[in-house]
Amino acid sequence: MIRSDPREALAAKAGSGVARLGPDLWLVTEPIATGRLLGSPDAVTARARQPPGLTSWGPDGTAAWTAVRRAMRPVLTTAHTTPLLPAVAEQTRRTAARWPGVIDGMREAVRLVSDANLHHLLGAPSATLSTLVEAELAAADGVLPGRLRRAQRATYDAIRAHNHGPLPALLAAQGFDEHHVTLAVRSMLLSGHHVPAAALAWAFHELARHPDAQDRVRAEADGGSERPFCASVIREALRLHPPVWQLRRQLRASVHGLPAGATVVFSPYLNHRNPAAHADPLDFRPERWLRHARPVPGSYFPFALGPRICPASRTAPVVLTTILGEVLRTHRLVRHRDPKPARGVLHAPRGLALRVVRTHR
Ligand code: HEM
Repeated sequence: MIRSDPREALAAKAGSGVARLGPDLWLVTEPIATGRLLGSPDAVTARARQPPGLTSWGPDGTAAWTAVRRAMRPVLTTAHTTPLLPAVAEQTRRTAARWPGVIDGMREAVRLVSDANLHHLLGAPSATLSTLVEAELAAADGVLPGRLRRAQRATYDAIRAHNHGPLPALLAAQGFDEHHVTLAVRSMLLSGHHVPAAALAWAFHELARHPDAQDRVRAEADGGSERPFCASVIREALRLHPPVWQLRRQLRASVHGLPAGATVVFSPYLNHRNPAAHADPLDFRPERWLRHARPVPGSYFPFALGPRICPASRTAPVVLTTILGEVLRTHRLVRHRDPKPARGVLHAPRGLALRVVRTHR
């Protein structure tokens, strides 16, 4: 049996930009409508009701999470992140120095990103926490509730024992209790693990396919800390391969002609490949971001848009640019085995194998 790619299956239903998929279900791909709907305070994230417990934000989870989101802002600025970048580069150098001749691109991207994330939020990488986060995400993908509960408890307990460093200190200083600090760190570690790693792994893949672009990143990385082309590579990888390829919102009120109560599906993947918004949309062309950096609203949103935009939307690209620049400064990436896109909610390069050639000690 041939199963179609879920992204292509959704594309087939997109119609003229606002398509009704069921009585209360809509798919919106038209850029202006996408921007208006996602940006509306009445388009809310549909969250499963959680029983009180270890991983729950409590009866009013949204209000608690919104307060934490606001309180976290100071560590999610480029001003906070920039001084950490030399340590991220150093950690990247150490990891890449141990690479064998052929690597699994996604696995190594997870390692690099997880170390950087832990450094950013807790002040230092932790192999224990990385492993526990990975195990919890694997358990969440599975079907065994007991296994997931055990994995959640293990992550929660380890984070509580580790509750020091920039993010916990910031939240504790604003009066959040230990449980909420632990939950906040947990949300950031889980969300900041596979998603940015998939972006980095897709960038590895595209650079292995485009040696000229790779040379340009390398030349720039040798030249100093300004890396506009490398940043454009990350932007372009996020355009062609947005790791969160599908978003859902529920409308609390009528917005842009769609009725209150409707569930709306959006797809960065489909909008990013719209030829009316991006010239030659299937081509990997990082230069497009050097020339006109402001795409039509609603045509580029790898971090979502509106009130629930990714809290790391400013810092993640800076960190990924540093990691990618450092990898390319010291190594050449050569195609070994091309990936297939994963079929699940995460658009990641499954089976990506790269040959790595050391160019610098
Ligand atoms: C290239 C890197 C990243 C991309 C493309 C990305 C993308 C996204 C997207 C699209 C969402 C919205 C999901 C939805 O509404 O269904 C989101 C939410 C989120 N992201 Fe990211 N993300 C990235 C990196 C990170 C990092 C590094 C962290 C943590 C340090 C992080 C933490 C979060 C959290 C906590 C949320 C949930 C926000 C909320 O619901 O209020 N993300 N991300």
